Amino acid sequence: MTADPTARTDLAARHGLSTDRMPRHVAIIMDGNGRWAAQRGEPRRVGHTAGEAALFDAVEGSIELGLEVLTVWAFSTDNWKRPKAEVAFLMDFNRDLLRRRAHELDERNVRVRFIGRRERPVPRAVRDEIAWGEGLTADNTGLVLQVAFNYGGRAELTDAARAIAADVAAGRLAPDQVDEDAIRERLYAPSAPDVDLLVRTSGEQRLSNYLLWETAYAELVFTEVLWPDFDREELARCVAAYQGRDRRFGRVHQPPR
Ligand code: IPE
Ligand code: IPE
Ligand code: MG
Repeated sequence: MTADPTARTDLAARHGLSTDRMPRHVAIIMDGNGRWAAQRGEPRRVGHTAGEAALFDAVEGSIELGLEVLTVWAFSTDNWKRPKAEVAFLMDFNRDLLRRRAHELDERNVRVRFIGRRERPVPRAVRDEIAWGEGLTADNTGLVLQVAFNYGGRAELTDAARAIAADVAAGRLAPDQVDEDAIRERLYAPSAPDVDLLVRTSGEQRLSNYLLWETAYAELVFTEVLWPDFDREELARCVAAYQGRDRRFGRVHQPPR
């Protein structure tokens, strides 16, 4: 880890990035662990384990680039359909990873926040670790690292709809007050800005039910790199691709005079 104050400009400069057009919020679908392991004749869990270094290098790169929010997908609501042994491994792995690395994130002034459904079947030991890690880093003011865990985009929107229905039924909200802000306020992380850049590794080109609301106007960048081979340099290449895009948000750009 580096405390070099010029590091931010170094990574940006190496990739020709303009520091005033950095994305505020980058979301990553960390994909390809199983294939990375298979290429080496190893079981899938070896790929998950190897992904830890990629994640922490991406966190360092995000700090260097001055991102506000990095959201990474650790476990989806559909990943429960995987073999029992892999699910159990991923639960233990994520709990241990947080336990081992939370102090390091804290020292880097990173604020850790989990998004997703926290109730069962998430094991109590994992839920306790999540609450501890969030509490430990709650006052930090640097990068916000959002970990999507037992996360599904439709589940998030369903939970928001249910919260709205409860508020309407209780008389706290009138039906004609249900607007986009009312939905946004009931998402898992209402204070986070919309996703500017969505990165998926491993060559797959789909959302798989990730951040459906938040990515409405995100620029999508797909890289062939398998997640365990990802690092801050690849992150910067993705940001370079983002900076080459023309974001119009439905508008027409004025022709140059
Ligand atoms: C991403 O890698 C990690 C999780 C989904 C937990 P995969 O496990 O999906 O790896 P591939 O896509 O099978 O290679
Ligand atoms: C999405 O990847 C979930 C995570 C990265 C945690 P998957 O590998 O589960 O998605 P599909 O099955 O290829 O769509
Ligand atoms: Mg996958």
